[in-house]
Amino acid sequence: MLVLGVESSCDESALALVNESGVLASVMATQIDVHALFGGVVPELASREHARLMPRLLDELWRRAGWEHDPEAGWAGVERIAVTRGPGLLGSLLVGLAFAKALAFARNIPLVGVNHLNAHLLVAGLERPLAFPALGVLVSGGHTHLYRMDSPTEMTVLGKTLDDAAGEACDKFAKMAGLPYPGGALLDALGMRGEADPQLFPRPYTHNDNLDFSFSGLKTAGATWLTQHPEARFPSGEEPAKERLDCASPLLCGAAASYLLAVAETLGIKARRALSLFRPRSIVVAGGVAANSVVRRVFRDLADEQSLDLYIPSPALCTDNGIMVAWNGLLLARSGYRHSLELSAIPRGQVIPFDWQREPAA
Ligand code: KG4
Ligand code: ZN
Repeated sequence: MLVLGVESSCDESALALVNESGVLASVMATQIDVHALFGGVVPELASREHARLMPRLLDELWRRAGWEHDPEAGWAGVERIAVTRGPGLLGSLLVGLAFAKALAFARNIPLVGVNHLNAHLLVAGLERPLAFPALGVLVSGGHTHLYRMDSPTEMTVLGKTLDDAAGEACDKFAKMAGLPYPGGALLDALGMRGEADPQLFPRPYTHNDNLDFSFSGLKTAGATWLTQHPEARFPSGEEPAKERLDCASPLLCGAAASYLLAVAETLGIKARRALSLFRPRSIVVAGGVAANSVVRRVFRDLADEQSLDLYIPSPALCTDNGIMVAWNGLLLARSGYRHSLELSAIPRGQVIPFDWQREPAA
């Protein structure tokens, strides 16, 4: 079954064509440069960019699929249109939804709405079937959730962050240190150049017996350290930050390594606690922060120690993309789920309803 996936929940506009054998084509346009000027995502600008970019991304997708000379033949093969319906920025979601609905209506192709967080986790099964039940660790810029995953449609939240998400904690420390937004990946690159001090930063909100997270204490500890060490600030300059990484002080590189270790170990402590409550067959780590080298190492060690299978998508599939949306749409369609054109967008912070319709039996 060939599925077209549409992703527009935050600041990446992305489309992909996926079937059971894998990815036929995928395109993505990041808006990072637009938002970096403001130090964070500006929702209004994000919506406008999605509206501007989606049509040309579709042309490019068709070109990459080799269908530019016969678009009709391409459309004839698309059996479902999957679209992120939440959580995310409301305006951005609405642009993606309107685009997907227009295509579904014009081409008479069934539509299926996708939960962005589930899509992040389930794409780990694209290359190798997931072993359920799984412990899902979803770590992104806006979310930090632990899940019990029983199947692609049965995902129970076990714990989540009470304030900042893991990615947000990384981005804020990076910003305070003088790195451009979003600084998570740059912090990772700096940390690889430094030596972590396990005592430098706390493992916040771990002295309790729950599965929730709170990264605000770590953020404050990071801010305090940076105030006490103004000489550690990332050097400013004309060239892109990536090209200035070698000029960063060893002091900042060490702090970056220590901060990321604190984030990763905090995630590991709560994940280990979840494993004492139920015995999964595997651990799935996904979302933008799963691209982080320290997070990957901590979970590799945890999975080895617990003799569990570990699934972490390749770094390009960890951050927002259209492939994960198409893949989740395919899994839902295979389970007989779809939506009508009345599908609604669900912004961040609201519960996503279980409102799929069952496909008529074939
Ligand atoms: O999943 P994602 O692309 O978007 C959301 O749904 O939020 O995650 C983006 C987050 C940002 O906070 C970004 O800084 C972080 O993932 N990130 C990283 C790395 N790559 C992306 N954080 C730490 N290390 C990385 N290598
Ligand atoms: Zn995401």
